[in-house]
Amino acid sequence: MSTDLDPDRHAAPAKTAILSGAGRVIAIANQKGGVGKTTTAINLATGLAACGKSVLIIDIDAQGNASTGLGIDRRARAVSAYDVLIDRRTIEEAAMATAVPRLDIVPSAIDLAGAEIELIDLDRREFRLRDALRRMSAHYDYVLIDCPPSLQLLTLNALCAADSILVPLQCEFYALEGLSLLTKTIERVRKAFNPSLEIQGVVLTMYDKRNNLSDMVATDVREHFGDKVYDTIIPRNVRVSEAPSHGLPVLIYDMHCRGSKAYITLAGEVLRRERENDLAASAVAPGLADAAARITETSDRSAPGPN
Ligand SMILES: Nc1ncnc2c1ncn2[C@@H]1O[C@H](COP(=O)(O)OP(=O)(O)OP(=O)(O)O)[C@@H](O)[C@H]1O
Ligand SMILES: [Mg+2]
Repeated sequence: MSTDLDPDRHAAPAKTAILSGAGRVIAIANQKGGVGKTTTAINLATGLAACGKSVLIIDIDAQGNASTGLGIDRRARAVSAYDVLIDRRTIEEAAMATAVPRLDIVPSAIDLAGAEIELIDLDRREFRLRDALRRMSAHYDYVLIDCPPSLQLLTLNALCAADSILVPLQCEFYALEGLSLLTKTIERVRKAFNPSLEIQGVVLTMYDKRNNLSDMVATDVREHFGDKVYDTIIPRNVRVSEAPSHGLPVLIYDMHCRGSKAYITLAGEVLRRERENDLAASAVAPGLADAAARITETSDRSAPGPN
């Protein structure tokens, strides 16, 4: 099945407006299987929640690994990401609390396997997730979308809904293979559907310090993506792979292991980089910052007093 990225076929809506209840929407994507997308979604989300942020994971992979890895029983998934995408159920109806404070999840369901096909004939097929996020009234500081290992309509929905894409890359010989396809897809999504889609960052996963290859791959990836690559590298760590079978993020399963420390550091780095970007943006547009300050001042002055 080919994914239609033809801009003329479905006109893109105007440039991304600020999504109502969603703070920053990040699609965690790489069409390569088993590179650490779900592990990163679960543990970065937990790290962000540990830093006081409210976070929602949307699991749009039929495998449902993010949902299972967060201990969400299949029988408890009354309303799923499938219902949100296909039947336009709301995110509030689907969102479930997890064992992690401030972390909710819209669970996956097996029917998502058929959603790629069902979406083809639906109205606004690329924008179903974006529409749902726009309708959402609940507030989350971060929404992380755990994508399936493909670049078809489900991932496309994530890229159209997202402010940015975060790409996990496994430190292995074939790490860069397929990345040109991913980069081209991002370019086409920007042109056709979501002009403001940014690259949030690239995170190296499953790094093995005993293996020289890991270092070579890390160097190669940095040459390719420059400072988009996070300084934090996620090591290969058996506790990380054990945690999902207990339905827990590794940060809760064993908060002292190397994998947990790396993911909490990654969350800190994501937050720090975003603060730096915000500062840089206000330095680039001092006029805008001044205008915002004046508006705040004026509205403070005109606001009715406490009585
Ligand atoms: N840092 C790590 N150390 C050890 N094992 C890891 C690490 N990160 C991920 N794994 C394991 O590698 C496997 C693949 O990871 P994960 O499911 O996160 O990848 P994925 O990209 O989401 O896969 P898929 O493409 O199938 O959705 C899992 O068994 C996971 O537990
Ligand atoms: Mg996965």
